[in-house]
Amino acid sequence: MGEVTLSGRVQSFLAAGPQPMWIGGAWVPAADGAVLPSLNPATGEPLCQVASAGTEDVDRAVRAARLAFEDGPWPRLTAAQRSAYLYAIADAIEAHAEELAQVESLDNGKPVTAARQADVRKSIAHFRYYAGWPTKITGDTVPVSVPETFAYTLFQPVGVCGQIIPWNYPLLMAAWKLAPALAAGCTMVLKPAEQTPLSALYLARILEGVDLPPGVINVVTGYGETAGAALASHPDVDKIAFTGSTEVGRLILKAAGDSNLKRVSLELGGKSPNIIFADADLEQASLGAADGIFYNMGQDCTAGSRVFVERAVYDRVGAHLADRAAALRLGPGLDEATEIGPLISQEQLQRVEGYVAQGAREGARRLAGGDRPTDPGLRHGYFARPTVFADVRNDMRIAQEEIFGPVVTVIPFQDVDEAIRLGNQTRYGLAAGVWTRDLRKAHRVAAAMRAGTVWVNSYGSGAVEMPFGGFRESGHGREHGFEGIRLYSEVKSVLMNLAGE
Ligand code: NAI
Ligand code: MG
Repeated sequence: MGEVTLSGRVQSFLAAGPQPMWIGGAWVPAADGAVLPSLNPATGEPLCQVASAGTEDVDRAVRAARLAFEDGPWPRLTAAQRSAYLYAIADAIEAHAEELAQVESLDNGKPVTAARQADVRKSIAHFRYYAGWPTKITGDTVPVSVPETFAYTLFQPVGVCGQIIPWNYPLLMAAWKLAPALAAGCTMVLKPAEQTPLSALYLARILEGVDLPPGVINVVTGYGETAGAALASHPDVDKIAFTGSTEVGRLILKAAGDSNLKRVSLELGGKSPNIIFADADLEQASLGAADGIFYNMGQDCTAGSRVFVERAVYDRVGAHLADRAAALRLGPGLDEATEIGPLISQEQLQRVEGYVAQGAREGARRLAGGDRPTDPGLRHGYFARPTVFADVRNDMRIAQEEIFGPVVTVIPFQDVDEAIRLGNQTRYGLAAGVWTRDLRKAHRVAAAMRAGTVWVNSYGSGAVEMPFGGFRESGHGREHGFEGIRLYSEVKSVLMNLAGE
């Protein structure tokens, strides 16, 4: 345990000066030479500069993707050949696993141990899973009511895809977007978040080694309001896939509507209920609930930020959560002993502190955290101690607005009906958890929750095979599994007349 020594490859990557973008199979700076800094959230210091794309650069990347889609070899490859590329990408990521984990930890702040065990490992698994799909995407033959007609459906790639991703799991979100789109036969322009552009750029270097045809994957770095907005409103982009805030999700839907009615899939915010019944294994439930909110510093769209606890065990579970919050070890991500890293930015730290103050004003009782750590080594980073609020009412702002930080609200309930009613009282619907030993209760709650994923006696596990996405204002569409292929496909109906000569 201790501070990780940076790999030589990571050191030379960071020292390489302003990082250009990967467009049309070449490394190019922004047309106007603009750059932006990527900061280390553990220290507030810049790690390196990256290109800051404007409209012209986005145009160039979209043109490259269009050319690759219309004239390049990619759409003409056999399914097995596309599959081989996906396996090759997974292998290449695996060969750079430690470097990617270090880059991710530096740029995002997350513990390097989590980056290794979760982000990088799951990214590899994602590419391997979708590597299996190209050869299994099949249409149907359909017994239509039109006489003497042979009819079938075809899945065809939707075309040029813009993919805008957030900073909480930068590499993994890139994998979630790229892998199914590649499997479906699309070409894409990926825009990582301005806070965390580095792992996507490192991934582009890896892709260079895999010899993907030029323009199939393009990576443009830049701000949301400029590069992201240009992609969302681009008339030659066939589809936008977005993960991020509900606020920007609305802007993207509007931009799609105002430009060319491009297809849109959105994975947005959440305020997920995690419901603990008195008959649950309380030890397991409390640990699961703590992990469900504090993992990744609470910067997770599925974070179980509203913990509902049956009255009889309310104090006990609250105390458990507070103990766990106080025990978690804060530190820089590169320290292997760290359990909780910094938040992503000064802005996010202020947002979290604003909600902590709001909770106190609304009359919630703070059981743990609510302040910054006192360790002088952490003074310049964006650190916040995990916070537990009890005596929260479900209509308080801290129980209704996405905080996206390590802040949990603990709310009491009387019975199953009240738990369901309160749990569903939110504008979001991404995920929910239920902890009980009673099978009937578990199934009843799972069926009643207005949420895209429900965990029973666990919280937060993700499976690439299972559809993932939100009800209500948590989004449009489902990623993962075959649903991920669907998102990047158009379905075509072919009707062939068999009558005549
Ligand atoms: P954001 O939604 O602004 O950023 C996500 C991505 O969208 C980034 O790549 C950004 O550059 C891009 N973007 C921003 N404005 C855009 C625009 N007008 N057009 C196109 N793309 C644009 O999220 P932000 O501001 O970093 O965080 C604010 C809040 O959003 C967080 O506190 C959290 O509540 C939520 N959020 C949710 C995430 C999730 O996984 N569902 C991830 C990140 C943030
Ligand atoms: Mg924003």
